[in-house]
Amino acid sequence: MKTINTITDMQAWSRACHEKGKSLSFIPTMGNLHEGHLALVDFAKERADKVVVSIYVNPTQFGENEDFDKYPRTEQQDLEKLQQKNIDVVFMPDSDEMYPPDTAIDYLTVPDFAKKLEGLTRPDHFRGVVTIVKKLFDAVLPDHAIFGEKDFQQCMVVKNMVAEYGLDIKIHAAPIVRDDDGLAKSSRNQYLTPEQRKRAPVLHQSLLDARQKILAGTLNYSEIESQSIEFISKNGFEVDYFVIRDAATLGTPGEQNRVILLAAKLGIPRLLDNLRVD
Ligand code: PAJ
Repeated sequence: MKTINTITDMQAWSRACHEKGKSLSFIPTMGNLHEGHLALVDFAKERADKVVVSIYVNPTQFGENEDFDKYPRTEQQDLEKLQQKNIDVVFMPDSDEMYPPDTAIDYLTVPDFAKKLEGLTRPDHFRGVVTIVKKLFDAVLPDHAIFGEKDFQQCMVVKNMVAEYGLDIKIHAAPIVRDDDGLAKSSRNQYLTPEQRKRAPVLHQSLLDARQKILAGTLNYSEIESQSIEFISKNGFEVDYFVIRDAATLGTPGEQNRVILLAAKLGIPRLLDNLRVD
């Protein structure tokens, strides 16, 4: 496994790969890798000859009251995990490389659906995400890029950006990796106390229950939403949203292609989860 730190070296490596007729899968991450991230590596390997993972904690996607400085940085452990997965390159630029000092940041704009749900609580978050993802794509020059469906809205925003710029990169949304009790794996789970961790699977449970009600023919979505919010709140969560939406637009759901999305705080960590209905 090779470590590359500059955009120029990254592009040179990728171009050499393409010249040899090799295809390239790319997984952008912010490090602090867990099994959810590592499953994306397996997914990537099945789709291309070479796999590149980036580790970069992107400051522009953090809000003012979100702690960019406290984001867990576990470089050594991350490198060991990636080494074991036998990937080809880990791209680890520093901030001067991604946002050169004394240059203005050319932020990309986001579509209206990025202003809903996560975008309401974190107003500039997706603007920062698409801006860095485009910069990373320009450095890595991949044929495929893999994102986790856990961040459902993020996948949509990235797909929109790729379509807008006509990039020749296939975006894949890989399935959510969960602990045995259903809790979606996340870097934020480490901030749950043991007692909170025991209660956290109610999130996945609430999604399964809601899906069952929808599939049983209940079309009163707002009733399902409020019952679910009540159930989750009773277990000590502060629910930010629990909504049934159209999976392509995040607008009003019809009778197919629906997704249930939730965000809720349990103590400090704010947890996200979602489940496709159809
Ligand atoms: P990060 O939170 O490190 O996540 C990197 C990728 O791992 C994302 O695509 C995320 O959806 C995926 N992922 C996280 N937990 C997962 C799980 N339990 N199952 C499946 N996939 C999971 O998302 C980001 O970083 C950043 O916003 C980034 C795209 C790197 C831009 O800075």
